[in-house]
Amino acid sequence: MELKKVANGIWKASIGTPEADTPVSLRQLRMQAEPLEQIKERELPALLGQIACRKNRRGVQITLPMDSGEDIYGFGLQLHGMNQAGRKRIVRVNSDPVANTGEGHAPVPFYISTAGYGLFVDTFRHVEFYMGTNTKKGESGDKREVNQKHEEFSESALYALKKSQERRSIIIDVKAIDGVDFYLFSGNVKQVVQRYNLFAGGGCLPPMWGLGIWYRTYGGSDENTVLRLAEQFRGEHMPVDVLGLEPGWHSHSYSCTYEWSSLFPHPEKMTEELTDQGYKINLWEHVFVYPAAEFYEELLAFSGDYEVWNGLVPDFATKEAAEIFQDYHRQKFVQKGISGFKLDECDNSDYNASSWSFPDTTSFPSGMDGEQMHAAIGVLYQRLILEMFHKEDKRTYSQVRSSGALASPLPFVLYSDLYGHKQFIRGMVTSGFSGLLWAPEVRDCRSGEDLLRRMETICFSAHAIYNCWRIPNPPWKQVDIEKNLAGEWMQESEYYTAVCRRYHKLRMSLLPYLYSAFVKYWKDGIPPIRALVFDYEEDENVRNIEDEYLFGDELLVAPMTLEDGTSRSVYLPKGKWQDFFEEAGTVYEGGQCYQINADYDKIPVFVKADCILPVAKPVETVTEDTVFTIHLKVYGNGGEGCVLYEDDFETFAYEKGKQNEIMLKVDGMGRVQYERTGKEKVRYIFENAVEYGIWQ
Ligand code: GAL
Repeated sequence: MELKKVANGIWKASIGTPEADTPVSLRQLRMQAEPLEQIKERELPALLGQIACRKNRRGVQITLPMDSGEDIYGFGLQLHGMNQAGRKRIVRVNSDPVANTGEGHAPVPFYISTAGYGLFVDTFRHVEFYMGTNTKKGESGDKREVNQKHEEFSESALYALKKSQERRSIIIDVKAIDGVDFYLFSGNVKQVVQRYNLFAGGGCLPPMWGLGIWYRTYGGSDENTVLRLAEQFRGEHMPVDVLGLEPGWHSHSYSCTYEWSSLFPHPEKMTEELTDQGYKINLWEHVFVYPAAEFYEELLAFSGDYEVWNGLVPDFATKEAAEIFQDYHRQKFVQKGISGFKLDECDNSDYNASSWSFPDTTSFPSGMDGEQMHAAIGVLYQRLILEMFHKEDKRTYSQVRSSGALASPLPFVLYSDLYGHKQFIRGMVTSGFSGLLWAPEVRDCRSGEDLLRRMETICFSAHAIYNCWRIPNPPWKQVDIEKNLAGEWMQESEYYTAVCRRYHKLRMSLLPYLYSAFVKYWKDGIPPIRALVFDYEEDENVRNIEDEYLFGDELLVAPMTLEDGTSRSVYLPKGKWQDFFEEAGTVYEGGQCYQINADYDKIPVFVKADCILPVAKPVETVTEDTVFTIHLKVYGNGGEGCVLYEDDFETFAYEKGKQNEIMLKVDGMGRVQYERTGKEKVRYIFENAVEYGIWQ
């Protein structure tokens, strides 16, 4: 098998005749060759000399050796486990992954090995990966303990083979195809992910407002209740940037008409009023098109041969279907001030009672079948929405329930109402390995304490969202659904309101920092939210940590759940750390675990003991004129300083280089020096900044 170099650190291999429609063949953005050149060159590990490929009646099988010490990450969004070593993974889109099988809303046939490489199979087919679950005949060699009798019964002796040290195999099984391409990426975990993301076209850059606070309103809301809620937030000085409308805004929503319902008789006026108050509006929808939809007839020829909820399943792999959707949405919504969409139900709910999705046997006019379409539809749907916003030169930050391969350039965040808080946290950590973003939504809280824990987590995530589609009043007033519906407040509602407000403000103060982390995602492919193994791979202790993560370059977050109570163990990787919330906080020596106590209104966050952290004066909402006043918090000797990016925060002008870069460093005298390059409008003012760019 021949490996063809396609870029610095990326090689392609081909077996037989690949299918026509694959993630790479349908990819629209070009690989980012230039930033790829900047990543340190690295050869593939020698063990990859032993890759073997086989093509037979079953399909294609690829095998690779795997050492017992290898750790494996990736496979897209994984809610049930992070380290995939020793596990079989089934890469298949499924909205109800109840067990740790690999299936999920956004599985990706891509993994990263700590042996120094990553592998991506370019297919929309279900793929099964055996990640060191098996040994080839003869390979256990002298490691076999053939003649040892059990001396006594113990579970460890009984299951000893589980821990055996022999070399195992990775087996990749793609059934019923004539051929497939796969790609290899070299480097450590961080470099492999960077290469994969840059191969996909780079990371997404949301508009600044997208990083503010989101609130999805009650499904039964009408125009007036939405307007009242919006006023209430402003009246209470509760920072909220985006309001999301749920199914009730459609005249028929399962399947969708994409038409305003009678509950919203003046949508344009409402949009204007909300926009004037600094809100962005996001609309819930899904792909399945109801017969009364305006473009139903037009779409008939470009849809699959099965219905879902009596609606059409558009074939977005055809230009026509994508354009029909785009043109309609553009004229009807985007040009009328709508800022984004929540693309629901595209994640193959095939275990639900009938008609929640289309069968794998569906045929589509593009030539794709249902199996392929399940893996492709989330990405194609996001892409057409992004393209439409691009045509309007307006950025979006939106939501989606399914995604897949090469999705890093898409400014969409995954979510699902299922799962507990711990899984939500894991989702944030695992999604970062495969170019995906995940929202640990606040919803259905069991108590006020539960609300606080969930709220703290969203404030340190890629998407700070409350999903209140089941309750008419904010959860900080009442978490109990029945009581919320009855308009009855919790006794301590004022306290919860105050804590939520405090955290919303904290989130807003971190916006320039988080935005700049996203710019790095866009430019260099480094995810803004990432597992500790990205930055501390050499520290073996971090290899299995899935409940802590890095939030940008300087902060380490260890969220707590209701079950944790007010204390949890936190591992701090090598280096020195400081408590983010304490002014002259204790310095923690990394490389060990600490038992951290944190009341319900405090999330454990640590900051590197030597760094510059930009903290902005919080605004309630980001508008096109927002200028952030930034206070630079210098920790220790300021470390390597920091880099901030500034642009118009909402158009695509940054793609043409219209962006300022501000380098901040502490000089020999202990003063912060900054240097701004670029000619764009100033959006950050450094408090106490004096001439010559020195901040004291
Ligand atoms: C669900 C979605 C929820 C909510 C609901 C409305 O599928 O995950 O967040 O939007 O639909 O029907």
